Amino acid sequence: MVSYKELGLVNTREMFKAAVDGGYAIPAFNFNNMEQMQAIVQACAETKSPVILQVSSGARKYANQTLLRYMAQGAVEYAKELGWERPQICLHLDHGDTYELCKSCVDMGFSSVMIDGSSKSFDENIELTKRVVEYAHQYDVVVEGELGVLAGIEDDVCAEKSNYTRPEDVIEFVNRTGVDSLAISIGTSHGAFKFTPAQCTRDANGHLVPPPLRFDILHEIEKKLPGFPIVLHGSSSVPQEFVEIINSNGGALKDSVGIPEEQLREASKSAVCKINIDSDGRLAMTAAIRKFMVESPDKFDPRQYLGPARESLKQLYIHKVKEVLGSAGHAE
Ligand code: G3H
Ligand code: 13P
Ligand code: ZN
Repeated sequence: MVSYKELGLVNTREMFKAAVDGGYAIPAFNFNNMEQMQAIVQACAETKSPVILQVSSGARKYANQTLLRYMAQGAVEYAKELGWERPQICLHLDHGDTYELCKSCVDMGFSSVMIDGSSKSFDENIELTKRVVEYAHQYDVVVEGELGVLAGIEDDVCAEKSNYTRPEDVIEFVNRTGVDSLAISIGTSHGAFKFTPAQCTRDANGHLVPPPLRFDILHEIEKKLPGFPIVLHGSSSVPQEFVEIINSNGGALKDSVGIPEEQLREASKSAVCKINIDSDGRLAMTAAIRKFMVESPDKFDPRQYLGPARESLKQLYIHKVKEVLGSAGHAE
């Protein structure tokens, strides 16, 4: 048993309280490798933004859970080396799907876990989530639950269409499970193709304009659970400048569309205090690498393309924390 506290990590309790009171959101960035971790830490150390490092099931399969945990421990030391005296870094399991997995993360030094029972019945979701909460809270590890289903596909969570969170369910879910935060479904979804063209309109440049998020549902939930931390998954904006670089350098991403940053800015001011972003980082890295490969066919040292990819990722994260989520400057 390793406590995250020994590793210099923090849980999200204080972070979320300050974020809800201060009208901003904490970024939850996924990482699978060293360059992503470096970009996150560099961006957050430079801007003094609290941050959640997220490990998905795909990341665990790709990079190994133990290695990722040691990297998160390294992230704390690296942040200090970069001059961030009191780094506020949380290590979070993204979309945990079993009690055993959540327990293993608690036992190895994660400071937060998500148990995603959103595909189960209401009562089964409550039962599973409650079990995880009872275990995690013994070690001061916080738990995120989920109600409602997001459209989109990721490794172990797949749904064709959204099932919005029902505001009438949230009080019972939170009271019966004891969760620390709640992920809700109000129209976001995972990946870089969040809506079909048929669900969107087009702007003057021919870019897809998605239907707006269901702020009405969010506000109803906020009224039912005043001050309770709400989480938004699937919150990449899918910047079209990255898509254009990818497509003009051999890529084929057609009709990609994300959540407009303006809507995330608005959500950050509400009880939404954790915003999950993964796909935007994938696009930033892929755009930089594709461009490099086309422009420098004679180069073959991975550092030559991973370096610019890491820098592009860092700039993306700086933009997110300063201009979208508003978390910059809240972890001095
Ligand atoms: O929510 C999903 C994240 O984007 C992680 O996806 O399981 O492919 O790493 P992944
Ligand atoms: P995106 O695919 O929109 O980046 O969402 C990531 C996410 O929700 C991770 O849990
Ligand atoms: Zn997610």
